[in-house]
Amino acid sequence: MIIAIDGPAASGKGTLARRVAEAMDYAYLDTGLLYRATGAKVLAENGDPADEAAAVAAAENLSASDLEGEALRSEEVGTAASKVAAIPRVREVLLDFQRTLATTPPGGKRGAVLDGRDIGTVVCPEAPIKFYLTASVEERANRRFKQLQEKNPAAIYERVLKELEERDARDSARDVAPLKMADDAIHIDTDRLNANAVFDAVMAHIHTHMGADD
Ligand code: CDP
Repeated sequence: MIIAIDGPAASGKGTLARRVAEAMDYAYLDTGLLYRATGAKVLAENGDPADEAAAVAAAENLSASDLEGEALRSEEVGTAASKVAAIPRVREVLLDFQRTLATTPPGGKRGAVLDGRDIGTVVCPEAPIKFYLTASVEERANRRFKQLQEKNPAAIYERVLKELEERDARDSARDVAPLKMADDAIHIDTDRLNANAVFDAVMAHIHTHMGADD
């Protein structure tokens, strides 16, 4: 069983996907982390994340330890991630790992939850359950700002908003695997829903789907 959760930056995919995986006892993969780690690796080597050779080399050399650390959560790394993510060869390099985890989840789990931008469209188009989360850019900037402020009291809302807008534009406009809702995804607008309400709605859909399979 594969559950795909896609949506734009700070739409609440990560929190939701983690909770769903826990509730279902499935494996969980935050695919954004792969792009963030690739972008961070290029930055650490003083490279340009938009440079294909540097980005592909970083993606090819990712190791498990590159996927750890709070530094990956910064907006600077998010921006670098969306630059490496627009390079087709980088996406190709990261695809196998994502598909393998989805189809043969580690630890003998019976399923996997993946969150990202292209899970329902490219990584796992065969996933029987797909969700697409959205919220207005102001609401998303507000949520991300609050998260960042907990770690850095000097965070600036206007800057977070601008970075999200730029990242949305880059993620939606790229030629390869752009941010796009799969035709068979369930759309959830989270503007006026808190995290618990989104979780409840998603679990209700999953149970309905599983019930229909019995
Ligand atoms: O957490 P947030 O929604 O801000 O971003 P993320 O999911 O960690 O993704 C960071 C960046 O990686 C995105 O802006 C995308 O450009 C890229 N990404 C992607 O292209 N495809 C995915 N499946 C996941 C992330």
